[in-house]
Amino acid sequence: MHETESNLRMPPQIFGDQPLILKRLAEVSANQGSNFLEVGSWCGDSTLILGEVAKKRNGHLFCVDWWKGNPGTELDEIAKKQDIFALFWRRVLSAGLDDVVIPIRSRSEFVFTVLAKESFSFVFIDGDHTYQAVLDDIRNYAPLVGRGGILCGHDCEGFIGDFDEGFLERGRDLDYYETVHCGVVLAVGQSFEKYSIDNSIWSVISIGNGQWASTSLEFGGLKRKPQEPPPAIADIHDHHIFRYRKRVYAVPFSLGLTDITDENLRNHPEVFDAGSVVAAEELILKQTGGCQARESRGPKMPCPETVHPARLLRHQEDTTAELQQTLQAQQVLLSEKQAKIEELYGGIAEREALTAQLQGMLQVHQALLCEKETKIEEMYRTIAEREATSAGLQQTLQAHEVLLAEKQTKIEELCRIIGGREAEIQSLKIELEKLEITLELSRLS
Ligand SMILES: C[S@@+](CC[C@H](N)C(=O)[O-])C[C@H]1O[C@@H](n2cnc3c(N)ncnc32)[C@H](O)[C@@H]1O
Repeated sequence: MHETESNLRMPPQIFGDQPLILKRLAEVSANQGSNFLEVGSWCGDSTLILGEVAKKRNGHLFCVDWWKGNPGTELDEIAKKQDIFALFWRRVLSAGLDDVVIPIRSRSEFVFTVLAKESFSFVFIDGDHTYQAVLDDIRNYAPLVGRGGILCGHDCEGFIGDFDEGFLERGRDLDYYETVHCGVVLAVGQSFEKYSIDNSIWSVISIGNGQWASTSLEFGGLKRKPQEPPPAIADIHDHHIFRYRKRVYAVPFSLGLTDITDENLRNHPEVFDAGSVVAAEELILKQTGGCQARESRGPKMPCPETVHPARLLRHQEDTTAELQQTLQAQQVLLSEKQAKIEELYGGIAEREALTAQLQGMLQVHQALLCEKETKIEEMYRTIAEREATSAGLQQTLQAHEVLLAEKQTKIEELCRIIGGREAEIQSLKIELEKLEITLELSRLS
């Protein structure tokens, strides 16, 4: 039987300035009638924020979640006792968003192909936080974002380089490790060259053709931090213990301050840092002042001198266990790197064979090129010769034309003379005939 909503305390999922940042990112991305998508809705904290923006833009918000929580986390435990989807839908209904929100009850890896026919102007990823799952969600859902649209996600406490590699590897397959979502940090860092992180919300904007740029938005009036202040990992004696990037910080309760993202707090003279929680605990124990403070503050506790051997033995055991874990993680890393190196060597050999083949082809092409160049030069020479011949012939032709014209003139002149002579001959013939007739007449008479 499910417990009632009232007797279960729901941990808030979106906190601090994150609601404002999420809203702003959604507003910037959305055009009229555009679609929004959320992977991981839980009780609907982010759904209500995004749903409001979608409603104003006459769009829809698709919510993909199996509503069973994240394996191995308190959400998983809560979902076993309560119908989270029912709670989610009641909240959607009472916010008047039931016509805007479209719930899809499934594991995210099963439905992206069905959703691929939609184009989204905004996709928010906050489902399974382990490395492979985040990587898959990014790969599967990024192509659904249209040009100019925004892809973003929750729980990214920094860039890969902000943390120790071994630390991220140790937490890679967990939901989070010492308040850091190592899987998210690694998957996002490996998926994009450039991305923005504001209060642990990572974001990129699509510039088309599968290319992304960091959003680099201004959030007017907001105190921006790369990371939303994390909760304490543990309380040891009179200190809160926080993880911030590569270090663990011990902050005395007496300071009343808990925002470890604040540099002033980290540099406070009463705050000290260590490489691990165990190392921080050892440092707290070694502080004799710490012993006195404990004695004066709470219930009477033995001084470190009286407890040291047993406690230190436990600390040594913890340290050894942690070192063994680190060693194992390093060994896994090392064998991964070895496999990578071998793969790269294989790649290099392939490339070398290819290069040799290409060089052979290049030589053949160069010889061919040489031949062609000789041929071309020969042809240029022939063309030059032909041009010279043609110029000579043209000159001769012109001279012949001049001669021809002269001859023509001469012929016409001779024709005129011949014409004159023929007329003369004709008149002489007539004269002769007349004389012959006269002669004949005189003979007859
Ligand atoms: C951290 S919660 C989401 C919080 C939510 N965005 C909010 O602001 O309230 C993570 C959600 O992802 C869901 N989830 C985990 N793995 C999933 C998977 N493989 N497919 C779909 N949903 C998953 C869980 O059921 C849970 O509701």
